[in-house]
Amino acid sequence: MQIIREGDALRRAVAALRGDGGAVALVPTMGALHAGHMSLVAEARRRAPHLVASIFVNPAQFGPNEDLAAYPRREAEDAAMLEAAGCDLLWAPGVEAMYPAGFATTVSVAGLSEGLCGAVRPGHFDGVATIVAKLLGQVRPDIALFGEKDYQQLAVIRRMAADLDLGVGIVGVPTVREPDGLALSSRNAFLSAQERTAARALPEALSAAARAIAAGSPVAPALDQARARLVAAGFDRIDYVELRAADTLEPLATLDRPARLLAAARLGRTRLIDNLPVDPA
Ligand code: PAJ
Repeated sequence: MQIIREGDALRRAVAALRGDGGAVALVPTMGALHAGHMSLVAEARRRAPHLVASIFVNPAQFGPNEDLAAYPRREAEDAAMLEAAGCDLLWAPGVEAMYPAGFATTVSVAGLSEGLCGAVRPGHFDGVATIVAKLLGQVRPDIALFGEKDYQQLAVIRRMAADLDLGVGIVGVPTVREPDGLALSSRNAFLSAQERTAARALPEALSAAARAIAAGSPVAPALDQARARLVAAGFDRIDYVELRAADTLEPLATLDRPARLLAAARLGRTRLIDNLPVDPA
């Protein structure tokens, strides 16, 4: 697997890969890879003969009080995992390669970027959409894969790719979880032992509410119950627990179409997110 840090070298390497006419898949990441990321890589392998992964901890998607400096960086281990999984190229540019002097463009997906995590993390999804647009422009993959774990991010990227005719297939991949249900995340490493035990309440509260709503319980009380369950488990702050339309993410007061139950809550200094599908009978 080649590790590439500079744009011209990337273009040459991707052109060489494409020489046989086979499709190219891209898996964008911020590194510190775990089994969730690797399931995107495995799905990419199944779908395309050529595989490019990227690792770039994107400063533009971190707020001023967020964990950019503390974000885990372990490129050597990541590269070994990607190589073992059959990745052809690792695109790992520095900040100067991605945001050279004079960089002035922001991609902003109105509506979808605004509620949920966008309300708590202003500018976050503009940072994500801009860097993903740039990665897609650099690699020009046939498909790019993203996790349902970050469901709002996936919706923003799908919308951007469609609106801008980027000519790339956006593939969503189901969330990989720990045996107790907690969604894998690089941020789980920040949890103390006690917080880690409490964290399982997040998937538990969501799946109980999803089951109740799917079985016909009224939405608002089911969401209240999920919030109460998180507070009882020791979550310090609940950013949101909401039922949204699965495609547009508009708020739903009743389950009248395919939906997604989404939550974000904090345990100490760590913010966890999760989501589940809820489908009408
Ligand atoms: P990062 O947090 O590194 O995640 C990279 C990809 O892995 C995302 O598509 C994310 O949804 C997916 N992923 C993370 N945890 C997962 C899990 N438990 N199961 C399945 N997929 C999981 O998301 C980003 O980076 C960045 O915002 C990025 C898209 C790279 C733009 O900077």
